[in-house]
Amino acid sequence: MAPREQFSSKAGFVMAAAGSAIGLGNIWGFPTQTASNGGAAFVLVYFILSFCLAYPALMAELIIGRHGRANIITALRGISSGPITRKFGTVVGVCGVLTASFILSFYAIIAGWMMAYLLESVAAMLSWSEVSGWLTGFSLARNVMFLLLFMALTMAIIARGVTGGIEKWSTRLMPLLLVLMLMLIGYVLLQEGAMEGLKVYLLPDISQVKPALILDAMGQAFFSLSLGVGAMLIYGSYLSEKESLPVLGAVVTLVDAGVAFVAGLLILPAIYVAKLHGADVFSDAGQLIAGPNLIFQVLPALFDSMGQVGVVVAFAFFLLMSIASLTSSISMLEVPVSLMAEETRVNRLQATLIIGVMITLVSVLILLNFDLLFGLIVELTTVYSQPLLGIGLCIFVGWIWNRNNLLMEIQRGHAKIEQSLFWKIWPSYVKFFCPALIVAAFLQSVI
Ligand code: TRP
Repeated sequence: MAPREQFSSKAGFVMAAAGSAIGLGNIWGFPTQTASNGGAAFVLVYFILSFCLAYPALMAELIIGRHGRANIITALRGISSGPITRKFGTVVGVCGVLTASFILSFYAIIAGWMMAYLLESVAAMLSWSEVSGWLTGFSLARNVMFLLLFMALTMAIIARGVTGGIEKWSTRLMPLLLVLMLMLIGYVLLQEGAMEGLKVYLLPDISQVKPALILDAMGQAFFSLSLGVGAMLIYGSYLSEKESLPVLGAVVTLVDAGVAFVAGLLILPAIYVAKLHGADVFSDAGQLIAGPNLIFQVLPALFDSMGQVGVVVAFAFFLLMSIASLTSSISMLEVPVSLMAEETRVNRLQATLIIGVMITLVSVLILLNFDLLFGLIVELTTVYSQPLLGIGLCIFVGWIWNRNNLLMEIQRGHAKIEQSLFWKIWPSYVKFFCPALIVAAFLQSVI
């Protein structure tokens, strides 16, 4: 058997992990959640939760992954302490793999829309109005076609493996993503109306703070850091022993939260510029439009009203969204593919094909029953499954894994870690505080 692949450098890992983390969750989810949850109040809670809850959970995944050098199921079984915890490991692992696959099944649909709108901006440049109409209409044919296109790209990268696929493409696409985003922000902030959006974003509106705020912020933080399903775990498993996990994990968390914050500087001002251009940006209930209508109606209307420049801005915007989706979707597909390639006699290419086709079929099923299934799967996977799996992983690290082995894994690649705050706090923190906080957030939303 060929030796297990590894990221070729620290930077390669950071690009891949940040590529996984930075996605539609940052550029669309975070800004719109902020808008509908009272602006800066949500930003504040989100940042606190990112560092105090999501970062420790990310560390749990990275540490388990690098220690086990395997997919989530094998890695969890490897650190279990007896037959019962082994079973528990299997259950958590299987749920993680399923959740990752279902997240990909809806994510690929949305990403397909982004690519359709990307092509639409090209059609608009060429004044092909019939093509434009088809690309932006919600037809089954269009949805399926772009789903297939997006899944094919995701599979093409994953089939090429860790360094030749995940690392290479993340390293190419992430810098482009940042440049596109900064350019768009520069442009939008110069437009009339942008400052009103900035105010809504950065000034807290306490009257909008709802009891579900903490749960929303927690779900958002877990989604944004790709937690609970073994995506970060498998990326950690490709990391060299020479690297310091606490440091790299902190870098990824910072970059992820930073890009979410910066994306808010783009989306909220853009909404208010669109408002000035006559777009309807509030729902009947007086809420800021946040769902798909925002991305696929409000913003396109804004781009239209900008004339010739608008076409270029639209192109840049949907290219940004497509890239962000692709570097995230590969990390979702890697979860089941790595499992199959490691645990069966099927090779990576075959595993990618088999699983890719299966997930695509699920996506088509969702498209055929869109009203019934889409929202349901989004909610089940992101609101419930991810945080619950997060509790499972914290329990593994805090309660099941042999303490000495855990500490030894943290020491690898970080010489003087015994003197750090991380060493003193983190082990007991994931043991008690993280699971308790996740449960509390759940209970609070139920009550
Ligand atoms: N974090 C990505 C985003 O913000 C989405 C993502 C990638 C993800 N991999 C994941 C979400 C695994 C959950 C699980 O869009």
